[in-house]
Amino acid sequence: MSPIAHFNGKLLPLDQIHISPLDRGFIFGDGVYEVIPVYGGAPLRGREHFERLQRSMDEIRLKNPHTVDEWMDLTSRLLEHHPGDQSVYIQVTRGAPLKRDHVIPKDLEPTVFMMCYPLASPSAQQVENGVACVTARDFRWEKCHIKSTSLLGNVLARQISYDAGAVETIMLRDGMVTEASASNVFVIKDGVVLAPPRDHLILLGITYELIMRLAEDGAVRIDVRPIAEAELRSADEVWLSSSTKEVLAVTTIDGKPVGSGKPGPLFRRMHALYQEHKAKLTRRAVAA
Ligand SMILES: Cc1ncc(COP(=O)(O)O)c(C=O)c1O
Repeated sequence: MSPIAHFNGKLLPLDQIHISPLDRGFIFGDGVYEVIPVYGGAPLRGREHFERLQRSMDEIRLKNPHTVDEWMDLTSRLLEHHPGDQSVYIQVTRGAPLKRDHVIPKDLEPTVFMMCYPLASPSAQQVENGVACVTARDFRWEKCHIKSTSLLGNVLARQISYDAGAVETIMLRDGMVTEASASNVFVIKDGVVLAPPRDHLILLGITYELIMRLAEDGAVRIDVRPIAEAELRSADEVWLSSSTKEVLAVTTIDGKPVGSGKPGPLFRRMHALYQEHKAKLTRRAVAA
């Protein structure tokens, strides 16, 4: 049986959903999206994801068809068909006009699509041993803060690490660390967590913000500032973060060990704080 998905206000089997070839999402990649991790039926930071969706829509001048409360409600209804740990994927495109034209059409109904798939959390082995990354020049555009479905730059960046047998591609723009193809990057030196600035050159991860909060609560020192390539290469620890990767230690970059070559003590602490935060969420969901 085809899994149930949401399409323009209806719940339907995925294989019964058909989208026009004129949809601007298909023609131009003219849309935005979100991915929300769900643990035991409870979305982690669902509201924050829909607030970021709003910011992405504002940036591309797309009218949001739903309030955050409505989005949360649509998510709950979809999750009734998908118990357990899931990823909820939400995509809104500018819709399907009658002809192809770059100019943004007025009064077009957006296309709304949501689906679920089982959450692929990091394996115990990845958490224990860390993961390999490679570096590449950040050849993407200058509006990386928009969570756009136009992901060709990220796709090509990710392929570089895939081809090298690595988990992520850490990108460098003008000698500075930006982010990875589908994750944020943190560099740890002398007990301080360095995080790249919250600007247009990175997607401000919901997990990035959560890690910042957990670090503050756990009295871990943070410095949000531009990070030079040399600092990445001489780091004590490097972490990746994303809604599905959670927080992961990077133990080699371009084949060379990071620090001791093993996940470091601050990673262990942050990973524990993150797991505790998740456990609280699931306990609250069970109690509700
Ligand atoms: C380019 C990029 N940066 C960062 C992230 C991390 O964002 P989040 O923590 O909200 O998943 C992602 C997630 O997909 C991403 O694609």
